[in-house]
Amino acid sequence: METTPNFSPNSLSSSASSSSPVQVARSQEQAQTSAQSNSLEEHWMPFTPNREFKDEPRLVSKSEGVHMWDHRGRKVLDGASGLFCVPAGHGRKKIAEAVYQQLLTNDYTAPFNLGHSGSFEFARKIAALAPDPINHVFFCNSGSEAIDTAIKIAMAYHGARGDHRRLRFVSRERAYHGVNIGGVSLSGMIKNRDTFPVVMPYVVTMRHTWSADNLFVRGQGENGADLANDLQRIVDTYGGHTIAAVFVEPVAGSTGCLVPPKGYLARLREICDQNGILLVFDEVITGFGRLGHAFASQAFGVIPDMMTMAKAMTNGCQPMGGVAVRDHIYDTIIDAGAEGAIELFHGYTYSGHPASCAAGIATLEIYEQEKLFDRVADLSEYFLDAVYSLQDLDDVTDIRGIGFLAGIDLKPGSRPGCRGPDLQKKLFANGLHMKFTGDCGLMAPLFIAQKSQIDEMVEIFRQTLTNT
Ligand SMILES: Cc1ncc(COP(=O)(O)O)c(C=O)c1O
Repeated sequence: METTPNFSPNSLSSSASSSSPVQVARSQEQAQTSAQSNSLEEHWMPFTPNREFKDEPRLVSKSEGVHMWDHRGRKVLDGASGLFCVPAGHGRKKIAEAVYQQLLTNDYTAPFNLGHSGSFEFARKIAALAPDPINHVFFCNSGSEAIDTAIKIAMAYHGARGDHRRLRFVSRERAYHGVNIGGVSLSGMIKNRDTFPVVMPYVVTMRHTWSADNLFVRGQGENGADLANDLQRIVDTYGGHTIAAVFVEPVAGSTGCLVPPKGYLARLREICDQNGILLVFDEVITGFGRLGHAFASQAFGVIPDMMTMAKAMTNGCQPMGGVAVRDHIYDTIIDAGAEGAIELFHGYTYSGHPASCAAGIATLEIYEQEKLFDRVADLSEYFLDAVYSLQDLDDVTDIRGIGFLAGIDLKPGSRPGCRGPDLQKKLFANGLHMKFTGDCGLMAPLFIAQKSQIDEMVEIFRQTLTNT
């Protein structure tokens, strides 16, 4: 185990909100002192209550297999695959060595007008995993970038066909599509939107698929396919010819594992086909085995026009994201370009970074060699049995689950949204890491988790919830 890092939360400068000259001077002085004394103040943490965290930090100093260790030496079971992105386990040497070798051999290649073999090999491997005819992959660096890239590809595709009236995008309540302006525009989560009033216009929202009719239903509920007809109503209201694309997470992940009711995705596909609308599955969480298939589209038997992906592409070892598209989308955009001209004015300095591709290739080899997607399919029932055993707890108001993903709704505390984060901290103290969104806890075991570790996750959850 590594040594405990030398930090002292008590020595941190407080986050003063007022700014009198004396306070400014003091905080500058404190900043200088704290910069020398392992202060946590300088790092502005994402999606984290900074003041609270820095008063009582949880720093991970080591991770291996299904476990991590915090700075106090506490061993914690990873019940969320990090943030859904480390399914093959922490500390995989094969991936680390692939990245190391790649950095020694060719650390960086400018991605515009130059290439390196790794990005082509990684794209071929992803295309082989994706359902036909999805055979072309555009690389970016995160799920949020994948969403913005997919929005732009949809615009470029319709433009290339000379169809300039499709300005509208459709998404869903309770959707999470990342944090860039495109993704926030499609988002159905108020907290992620209300600080940022300027977003893309022309976004229309369907209802989410959570329904009290499906309480504690395992997998796909029988009720709710008709919610897909929200898209038909939008078509009837605005005209299908004005809609560029529909974005949905096949299973809405961040807002609590909302599994699509039976027939729902197929009905969306049907309406899209009837109206020339592109169907985009945001597979950032569901991609790469989470439902026991490479992608959720295969698990549900519905093939979208585009898939966004990110988490689990490199087992969390390097930033990476991508958009995979059907042949006709790629061909239409490429063929519309003038001879010798750039066909799509889009790309990132780190698109298809050599080290990320090396990590991705090694990751996909591990998934294949260890048959990890099959392992999820085989163990899913066991996992779901364990999670659904929690339904006897009074404080659990609903459970949803599929594959290796489950959402557990809690009775709210004094106000909605405060019980979840509180429980999350207690769980960590008791040795379990889980993701929470408001009062919903998400369990997403690593694909290498043993049955005993699944039992342990659920037992820690039961004990902690019961004793708080
Ligand atoms: C469905 C979905 N889309 C997009 C994103 C954004 O990904 P990133 O955080 O890598 O930008 C996430 C992240 O949780 C996600 O769950």
